[in-house]
Amino acid sequence: MAGPETPVRIARLAPAELSAYKALRDEGLRLHPDAFDADVESEKARPPESYIGRLGLNDTLGGSFLLGAWEGRQLVGMIGLERPSQHKLRHSAELNSMMVHPQHSGKGIGQLLVGQAVSEARQAIGLEQIYLRVSTSSNSAIRLYERAGFQPCGVVPHAIKLVEGPGQVRYFDKLAMVLIL
Ligand SMILES: CC(C)(COP(=O)(O)OP(=O)(O)OC[C@H]1O[C@@H](n2cnc3c(N)ncnc32)[C@H](O)[C@@H]1OP(=O)(O)O)[C@@H](O)C(=O)NCCC(=O)NCCS
Repeated sequence: MAGPETPVRIARLAPAELSAYKALRDEGLRLHPDAFDADVESEKARPPESYIGRLGLNDTLGGSFLLGAWEGRQLVGMIGLERPSQHKLRHSAELNSMMVHPQHSGKGIGQLLVGQAVSEARQAIGLEQIYLRVSTSSNSAIRLYERAGFQPCGVVPHAIKLVEGPGQVRYFDKLAMVLIL
């Protein structure tokens, strides 16, 4: 598959880049309410620095980070890995916060993000597997994860409930997927 036409730089996000992260995140939550657990109304009020824990700055074993995809100075995509610190859970990390701005989708940036996240996860000490949950409505995302080696391992029915007005409710199931490192 050909890569993006404009060079894209994938790099860990730094504290000074959290404003760009929040702007892209809020846009993703607004555009894709079925894809994410968080809702834009609650998240909009959060200041950028409240996300600093996701950067994994104090993570000595590795496996917790946010990656950004940059086209020049514009943040066009992102992905996160969160690894719990509890001894019984820390062999396993959750892939989340995956999105590419619609103006930049379909150019291979998502694939670059997943590839880099998996490659960084492989460097983490003692990390054995990555799991994620993706809405069964997000077909493109599911195909992308499958191409990266993730295997489906079950469906959570009605994982997302969207109340869109009086009497207007939509439910979305989530597919769980896992990649053994
Ligand atoms: C899912 C998502 C992250 C994918 O990002 P992306 O950058 O568009 O991903 P890619 O470009 O790598 O792949 C997307 C498609 O473009 C195709 N593609 C990639 N590079 C291409 C190129 N140079 N020319 C033509 N097609 C290309 C891929 O084959 C893929 O096709 P498919 O959907 O038919 O399988 C993005 O669509 C998104 O943000 N979706 C909404 C949020 C979401 O669902 N997030 C997942 C939460 S779990």
